[in-house]
Amino acid sequence: MIGPAPGPPPRYPSSARAPGKCILFGEHAVVRGAPELVLAIDLETQVVVRTAERTQLNADPGALETNRYFHEALAAAGALEAGWDVRSVSRVPRAAGLGSSAAFVTAFSLALRGDAAGSLDRPELAQRSFDVERAAQGVGSPGDTSTSVAGGYVTLNAGPEGGEPLWTVRAGPERWEVRRATDPGWAWVVAYSGLPRSTAEAVKAVAVRLEQPDGRSLLEEFAGVARDGIDAVRREDPEAVGRLLGRNQRLLREVGVSHPRIEALLDAAAPAVLGAKLTGAGRGGSIVALPVPGREVELVRRLARAGAVAYTVRPSAGVERVAATGADPAT
Ligand code: PMV
Repeated sequence: MIGPAPGPPPRYPSSARAPGKCILFGEHAVVRGAPELVLAIDLETQVVVRTAERTQLNADPGALETNRYFHEALAAAGALEAGWDVRSVSRVPRAAGLGSSAAFVTAFSLALRGDAAGSLDRPELAQRSFDVERAAQGVGSPGDTSTSVAGGYVTLNAGPEGGEPLWTVRAGPERWEVRRATDPGWAWVVAYSGLPRSTAEAVKAVAVRLEQPDGRSLLEEFAGVARDGIDAVRREDPEAVGRLLGRNQRLLREVGVSHPRIEALLDAAAPAVLGAKLTGAGRGGSIVALPVPGREVELVRRLARAGAVAYTVRPSAGVERVAATGADPAT
């Protein structure tokens, strides 16, 4: 019933951890096939799965009705009929543009396979996690889920310039090619504005905006900036990356997904960054900034003074099983 391959029956408790993410270049345009560069960050979610009399998530028996990600992940695993006690602990703020739902879906989908389910088939898990997120959200690209599965720097739709091929994710006639980009070894800063927002609503609003007469040329500009950004990261040219982050932000503003709080954070960050932009769906959510080398702490302080929750982040490994000792994940 559960798990991709025949083999020993899955054993529980079982646990997995998965990273959140921040989009460096190309959000929104990626939904329409433009390139994207995403970084898996070391803010993570851990999920522990046990068999149980009745299904609950973090002691909430109503979660099957109220949490679509939870419901769709169980449905995709063919596991709705069984009972599960699921605990999830996350350092990724919710609805903040930092991939909390993708981290939950990938960690949960892996943990559901149990401890004895054989080796980890990442391409299959990336497709499964995207199917779950898409079913729950109705719209979107596989950028978040594939990054949570792969870890590190990941490109979509970038061609050979985007790195070594990892896998292709499909939704009907749509397909996204996912690649492993090189890690330039930089620290980034992300900062959550405190304003949660809905990815689906932002994606739909941008779709309407891109139907305007200038939509096609805007989409080309998004694609060009993302392509140049991917190239600048590959060349390890932080000044160029900083300029391109600023250009990407101007385009995001143009399609209406910035927000006065986001602009205030970008202003607060400006003296200590090479460049910065909103990250994720926007209309609130978070920013990502490339600090001037040596000024990371100052940048975090500036953002905290401006009212954000700021983190210095580094690349994280992709989803993986962790030992389920019987204890709940540490908080
Ligand atoms: O804000 P998030 O973490 O849900 O990211 C959304 C990124 C979009 O490009 C706007 C949508 C998508 O699924 O790619």
